[in-house]
Amino acid sequence: MEKTIEQIKEEALDELKTASDIETIKALSVLYLGRKGLVTQFLRDISKLPQEKRPGAGKQANKVKKILDTAFKEAIELLKKEAAETDDHIDVSLPGRAVAQGSLHPITQINRQIFEIFTKLGFDIAEGPEVETDYYNFEALNIPKNHPARDMQDTFYISDNIILRTQTSPMQVRVMEKQKPPVRIIAPGKVYRCDSDLTHTPMFHQVEGLLVDENISFGDLKGILNTFIHQIFDTQTSLRFRPSFFPFTEPSAEVDILCVICRGKGCRVCSHTGWLEVLGCGMVHPVIFENIGYDTSRYTGFAFGMGVERIAMLKYGIDDIRKFFENDLRFLRQF
Ligand code: DAH
Repeated sequence: MEKTIEQIKEEALDELKTASDIETIKALSVLYLGRKGLVTQFLRDISKLPQEKRPGAGKQANKVKKILDTAFKEAIELLKKEAAETDDHIDVSLPGRAVAQGSLHPITQINRQIFEIFTKLGFDIAEGPEVETDYYNFEALNIPKNHPARDMQDTFYISDNIILRTQTSPMQVRVMEKQKPPVRIIAPGKVYRCDSDLTHTPMFHQVEGLLVDENISFGDLKGILNTFIHQIFDTQTSLRFRPSFFPFTEPSAEVDILCVICRGKGCRVCSHTGWLEVLGCGMVHPVIFENIGYDTSRYTGFAFGMGVERIAMLKYGIDDIRKFFENDLRFLRQF
């Protein structure tokens, strides 16, 4: 036998001292106590010793085996305990886990900008029902049953006389019924039309405007809309009023703004006209005043209506209205 059992023990303990991880200690355990391990080998070789030396050597070798076995096991336990302690340890100097922050939906943002501009101009905000009667949505606005103007708006019917409002214009009538002039309101809210494509969704948002007082002229309407467009876009965005038709205004106009993309040169967005349609407006038709009992010899007024999604699309250069309602975070995070 080349090495004594004491030498084997010392070597094993020395090596254990330098072992810093569980895997190394397990390997050491195999090297010394495994089936072909050095201590095991030693025990096996005892049979080759002279008879009288065997009991002493056996006793000593078994003692070493026990000592090493305990030493390896204790070293492994210690490392395990240390690892568990570092797991529990909280490093308060590390940066915290970031909480994803939401933001206002682009339509909410544009709505709020519109509210701010008009409230500064002295307008109040009026809100009303989305489930509306045929009377307020059509009849009172000079759109009788079977009038061709009803085709302009594909209506969701709940019953013969109850519908989802197709426009915020019924709020003109609801407000005037309750209030004597002067009236100066905007009425924002959801409207519904049975229509869906790149530029139409079954639900979208409108803002209605109404101003009634003595001596109100088309010039006042132009002034207010000019101020509004310059603030919501910028002062370079000029307007033009194009004659149009709405049953509840006379005269009626549609307002175009200089194309926000090409600034009038002509591009794909403005179909090479240089202009983009943004809203409808006009002087309130005397028939509407008669319907609710305003004195038409004393009062005149103007009204306008705009689509909020349309304003947002032009302002941010969005070409598909459906993006507003798909809840795609990659889209929403850009605002
Ligand atoms: N209600 C109209 C629509 O949805 C928009 C509109 C046009 C509103 C002219 C008005 C107006 O108040 O005067 O198409």
